Amino acid sequence: MKNSYDLVVIGGGPGGYEAAIRAAQLGLSVACIEKRVHKGEPALGGTCLNVGCIPSKALLDSSHRYEATKHELADHGITTGDVQIDIAKMLERKDAVVKGLTAGVAGLLKGNGIDWLQGWGTLLDGKGEQKQVKFAPLEGEETTITAKYVILAAGSVPIEIPVAKTDGEYIVDSTGALEFSEVPKRLGVIGAGVIGLELGSVWRRLGAEVVVYEAMPEFLAVADKEISKEAAKLLKKQGLDIRVDTKVTNAEVVNGEVVVTTDVKGETKTETFDKLIVCVGRRAYSEKLLAEGCGIELTERGLVAVDDQCKTNLDGVYAIGDLVRGPMLAHKAMEEGMMAAERIHGEKAQVNYDTIISVIYTHPEIAWVGLSEQAAIEKGYEVKTGSFSLAANGRALAQGEGVGLIKVVADAKTDRLLGMHAVAVGAGEIVHQGMIAMEFVSSIEDLQLMTFAHPTVSEAVHEAALSADGRAIHA
Ligand code: FAD
Ligand code: NAI
Repeated sequence: MKNSYDLVVIGGGPGGYEAAIRAAQLGLSVACIEKRVHKGEPALGGTCLNVGCIPSKALLDSSHRYEATKHELADHGITTGDVQIDIAKMLERKDAVVKGLTAGVAGLLKGNGIDWLQGWGTLLDGKGEQKQVKFAPLEGEETTITAKYVILAAGSVPIEIPVAKTDGEYIVDSTGALEFSEVPKRLGVIGAGVIGLELGSVWRRLGAEVVVYEAMPEFLAVADKEISKEAAKLLKKQGLDIRVDTKVTNAEVVNGEVVVTTDVKGETKTETFDKLIVCVGRRAYSEKLLAEGCGIELTERGLVAVDDQCKTNLDGVYAIGDLVRGPMLAHKAMEEGMMAAERIHGEKAQVNYDTIISVIYTHPEIAWVGLSEQAAIEKGYEVKTGSFSLAANGRALAQGEGVGLIKVVADAKTDRLLGMHAVAVGAGEIVHQGMIAMEFVSSIEDLQLMTFAHPTVSEAVHEAALSADGRAIHA
């Protein structure tokens, strides 16, 4: 550890560690301060690697394999014995995946000559040429280090609600829901957002009865309506009991059970669960990050205020990822990290916020990029759309995955592609085609004129584009 660096990054999540690595590649001396201790050991990788993207996907994969082995193999003529799930082993595997990746990030920092300072970082003063950062190690004396540049990358934490206070055992947040040591018989979930659908799916597949309470009248209002309607139908068929327009007014633990009281259009109802997950969104985490008088401006919602290039109000201080405006997604944080590092180095890096992909890793996945039909209309476009059902896609049917649809949204005047939306097997991969097409300002006609391999699920992208002009072949 030195007293002074070119760049100090506070936060070692996907945003922070990518920023640190890019800056080091560009020749800057870099320290990355990260205070996280995961399962007893200091850990890089932030929310995403430790308690977010990666462990949730490990459990989604295990639970999908279990469900598919149990219920789908017979159709293929495959006979299995009594299919069992060993939850402890499943969690062990998840932990091993996390450990491998977080150790990998530590190796990358080391390999790039970056000092990982294990402890808390606080911006004391960001106004002068040399920024002052307090470093309070996990053990030992705190010190002040100086840096020409600072990147704030402290991420986010779950929002807590007073009507359902988490206790770490019965009423838990997403982190607790990654650690259930047995399958709850009845699982309640507050919030039918991304976490509710993903973690609700994990435990439902493993045998829990899952009820998901959503306060809003509409399911998945952020998605294109055609997609959210289809997704709701498929998820309900799988057994996720999603209740929209339902407000949880109280949740308390009584005799080892969680008693949840709801208000459904004025009617009060009570239900009991073994466990309750609270996943009603996340908030920027800036406690201990900013000393009083450090000079950083926050927004009304407590985010660090930044411009399109992630510059804060103070010269030389950047903020990225969940701490700032925009979707709370790891890939968005990473791209902002790289942009901030390159901007510090004097380059003209940009993030295209119009093509940030959203993926919900249910089965089938729900994913999109760009504008939904409704958002495009609201923005004043004359819109044309095309969609194609996977029930008519040969590959999807051969895989036993012939459900869902792919949809394209375009500007009717110019034919320009504005968005691609899918609820389909592999939707998260498929919409990358939409992202690349949008980056290259493709038209619907471009997608119509390309040759898609047969038989692939991607052919449904081609057919959706053809259908936008009434030309789909298999519809
Ligand atoms: P974080 O990953 O939160 O990292 C910030 C780090 O800063 C933390 O490790 C924290 O300990 C540290 N820190 C904070 N304050 C200080 C301080 N003062 N000093 C030192 N260190 C500090 N996103 C996706 O794109 N795809 C997914 O599939 C996905 N799945 C998710 C599943 C779950 C269950 C959850 C909870 C989130 C998921 N996300 C997913 C969101 C994703 O995890 C975040 O968007 C991403 O981690 C944000 O990156 P970040 O670097 O901004 O912040
Ligand atoms: P979310 O914003 O996706 O969903 C929260 C849901 O809870 C919303 O539908 C909201 O209307 C509802 N809600 C809010 N208050 C409520 C209340 N009192 N009662 C009932 N419902 C209520 O937030 P979530 O699921 O907590 O996830 C947080 C963030 O983490 C996401 O926004 C996303 O950015 C990130 N994430 C991303 C993943 C991915 O990319 N696959 C996976 C998991 C999380």
